[in-house]
Amino acid sequence: MTVPAILGIESSCDDTSVAVVTREGEVLSCVTASQIEVHKAYGGVYPELASRAHVATIIPTVEAAIGMSGVAISDLQAIAVTRGPGLIGPLLVGLNTAAGLGMAWDVPVIGVNHLRGHLRSADLVERRVRYPALIMLVSGGHTLLVRMDDARSITLLGSTRDDSVGEAYDKVGRMLGLGYPGGPAVDRLAAVGKPRIAFPRPMIREGLDFSFSGLKTAVARQLESEGAVQKEDIAASFVAACLDVLISKCRRALTTFDAESLVIVGGVAASPQLREAATSLANEMGVELCLPPQKWATDNGAMIALAGWDYLDMGNAPRPRPQPRLSIVDP
Ligand code: KG4
Ligand code: ZN
Repeated sequence: MTVPAILGIESSCDDTSVAVVTREGEVLSCVTASQIEVHKAYGGVYPELASRAHVATIIPTVEAAIGMSGVAISDLQAIAVTRGPGLIGPLLVGLNTAAGLGMAWDVPVIGVNHLRGHLRSADLVERRVRYPALIMLVSGGHTLLVRMDDARSITLLGSTRDDSVGEAYDKVGRMLGLGYPGGPAVDRLAAVGKPRIAFPRPMIREGLDFSFSGLKTAVARQLESEGAVQKEDIAASFVAACLDVLISKCRRALTTFDAESLVIVGGVAASPQLREAATSLANEMGVELCLPPQKWATDNGAMIALAGWDYLDMGNAPRPRPQPRLSIVDP
């Protein structure tokens, strides 16, 4: 039996991830080689080491994903590979690998905008996002709000003026001595603390743009100040401030049009606290909440493959060349 599928390759940052996904969004396999061990000594992603680790892992990861999926090479309709945004060296490893495989297998190669992959990640496993939808992307590189009227039309409503929320989590994690990556560790510490400190909620009363650098600085000042505040209370207060801002912006955006769904994607969407707060907001506003499965909130090949299907349907698949500075409104 043939199963039309797309092979998705993600290597824009610190994960080598390869997946095989059907048109319906069923993930037949998704294999990810994490680089946490490579970068943790540096407290963040070391780009050259990331490139080398991708070189070492990408072919075995492709082989594992193909093997586990049960599909034949002749079932592959395309290879979808992240073309940007991201780190140039890591992007080139994925793009060159995809180009070689495409030539060897005689399969077309599509260059995917990583951000479009995130936007579509809530549709993995089962198609459930109903449009029009409000989508908040909260990742290490981006914090933005978009309106989508169908799976392919994107209107940018707001974005961050400085740091992304994931970056703030990572920096606060480092300040608290929690290592890399900071996000999940900050969440765990926050869960046992009390939000006693009234950190600023930047730009909470105006518009749909975000700003997180002032909040990060306020946490740094608190840590330098006299008076012993427990680290878990600082973490809890920081998370409370972030959630307050993110949820308020979603609430405001939901009043600007009749959305059917609220969709939250990107690495920070793995946060249990954010998932809980989003559930309350969706109930309050009478919209359906769609979150990606927790393991596919962070970077993965499955979302890249799913976005690959959109490009195939649109019939104007972008060429697979590196574009480290690609934006959300680019195809
Ligand atoms: O989407 P992603 O994997 O990569 C980018 O495209 O940037 O997002 C990574 C970000 C990091 O900043 C990481 O700290 C954050 O997502 N993150 C989390 C959690 N898991 C990952 N932040 C909060 N809570 C989590 N559980
Ligand atoms: Zn990402």
